[in-house]
Amino acid sequence: MRTKQLRVLGVSGSPRAEGNTDLILGEALKAAKLNGAETKLIRLSDFHLEPCNACMACFKTGKCVIVDDGQALYEEVTNSDSIILASPSYFQGVTAQMKTFIDRVGFLALARKRQDFIGKVGGAIAVARRSGVSSTCNQMMTFLTALGVAIPSGGRVYAIGREIGEVLNDQEGIETARQLGNAMVKALN
Ligand SMILES: Cc1cc2nc3c(=O)[nH]c(=O)nc-3n(C[C@H](O)[C@H](O)[C@H](O)COP(=O)(O)O)c2cc1C
Repeated sequence: MRTKQLRVLGVSGSPRAEGNTDLILGEALKAAKLNGAETKLIRLSDFHLEPCNACMACFKTGKCVIVDDGQALYEEVTNSDSIILASPSYFQGVTAQMKTFIDRVGFLALARKRQDFIGKVGGAIAVARRSGVSSTCNQMMTFLTALGVAIPSGGRVYAIGREIGEVLNDQEGIETARQLGNAMVKALN
């Protein structure tokens, strides 16, 4: 039985504040909170994050040389027990914000031999007007599994909505997001 309060981090890749991605991610985090976790939602658009420039310095020193919010984001993720990534489908893939996050955090994690991700669990939520939830989710899953993050059953969520708030009409999307939030806590207890 765990004594420390679990920390569940939600990472939204949508540039639209309080849009569909933030809303459905919020539903997952509310469920995690009801299960006793401490939760936090961060929006990648609120951070200054440059793309990875493939300098490979991290593989020599274990640190990224780019001066921006990359280190702060890395610490947000590594200080959490569970990580939920969420992105709208943009041309059937993740947003530029989420892809930059994946490359920067992911490459640094690999350079550091995945030691900062041991024992973590994760999941992903993709939102689309109509197409690309599967491919968008796959990109986020690739990141999580490459780092050795365990994905519990129900770890992927697809939701549908176009205009802000429409995702709240997708009952199945909301229900599966809540199940994901529950799973993020239960998998570690
Ligand atoms: C640049 C851009 C590309 C998009 N590409 C797709 C797409 O390929 N398939 C789709 O179903 N919806 C697409 N959409 C619609 C969004 O996925 C949808 O509106 C989603 O609800 C937006 O989430 P948000 O409210 O968090 O921004 C796109 C929207 C934008 C702005």
